Amino acid sequence: MKAPVRVAVTGAAGQICYSLLFRVANGEMFGKDQPVILQLLEITPALKVLEAVAMELNDCAFPLLHGIVPTDSPEVAFKDADYALLVGAKPRGPGMERSDLLKDNGKIFSALGKIVDKVASKNIKIVVVGNPANTNAYILSKNAPSINPRNITALTRLDHNRGLHQLAAKVGGKVSDIKKMLIWGNHSTTQVPDITYATINGKAAPTVVNDDAWTRDAFIPTVAKRGAAVIAARGASSAASAANAVVDHMRDWVLGTAEGDWTSMAVSSDGSYGIEKGLVYSYPVICKNGDWTIIPNLPVNDFIKAKMKESEKELQEERDTCKDLL
Ligand code: NAD
Ligand code: LMR
Repeated sequence: MKAPVRVAVTGAAGQICYSLLFRVANGEMFGKDQPVILQLLEITPALKVLEAVAMELNDCAFPLLHGIVPTDSPEVAFKDADYALLVGAKPRGPGMERSDLLKDNGKIFSALGKIVDKVASKNIKIVVVGNPANTNAYILSKNAPSINPRNITALTRLDHNRGLHQLAAKVGGKVSDIKKMLIWGNHSTTQVPDITYATINGKAAPTVVNDDAWTRDAFIPTVAKRGAAVIAARGASSAASAANAVVDHMRDWVLGTAEGDWTSMAVSSDGSYGIEKGLVYSYPVICKNGDWTIIPNLPVNDFIKAKMKESEKELQEERDTCKDLL
């Protein structure tokens, strides 16, 4: 049996975590041979609910769950953490943009960054889920200078999965028929879902779809605005699908992307595709041996390029509005 890994999870008594924690404890994120210790952070008023979550986790008798540490102390939650799932943050309500959350949520991530810097494993791998996820990851990274920015990522896998479903539904196929779809940019309405390089059962997706107007006027906006559509229907933001995307993101990062495919992750830009270095930007990546690599040299058409720049501009503006947190 492998030694357990320590997984810090914030917002552990919230909606997303009510799906997420059970799947992590069941081995779906780190593998069926990898025990975990869950270090669960909440704000003090939510400790009672957190206690109930811990009771339910224990009552599942998951063989891989080797310990639970419920706490309202970030120092305890992040102590020696190998992985961190940063969910704890305010969700938006109807009529709000995710960037409207920056003022409140940005502070959470600057404070956490300083603590991660002090107490976590120096090799910690982090995914930021709390919105606006890309800029929160940027803020966290600036406040945790001893952690390699490559290890601080943000979630665009939910957008990626949404894109897979929309494309499969359009052609009457299965999501498993599709490879190499991708999301560029920010986890916001400026994101750029892109099927240019995608294949459906090995055939070029744009040829199979054969409907550029649908791609431009239906596919892209539907995926980009899906979060708001779920809020309108549910009265609260997506939770189970978000949790599923966090599982997919971390599992692929740690255990590797599927052969012959790539995925979408928001990572610290190295300047690829002309995007400002250091911004946390969603790219197509492959993961191997616990590391990610941006797919290089894809020929980007002018329509997509212009949209990628718009999303970069939005991230620059978000960054500029929270200079006091960096
Ligand atoms: P929720 O309100 O149900 O849960 C959030 C939890 O975080 C609450 O229990 C709250 O007490 C806790 N919390 C608040 N501040 C905290 C802090 N400083 N430290 C630790 N815990 C803290 O919300 P949710 O539905 O679970 O969503 C959480 C976040 O995830 C929101 O910001 C939401 O917008 C975002 N989200 C992102 C994606 C994505 O794809 N990136 C998808 C869905 C939701
Ligand atoms: C989502 O994409 O579902 C989340 O980011 C929640 C939101 O505010 O849209």
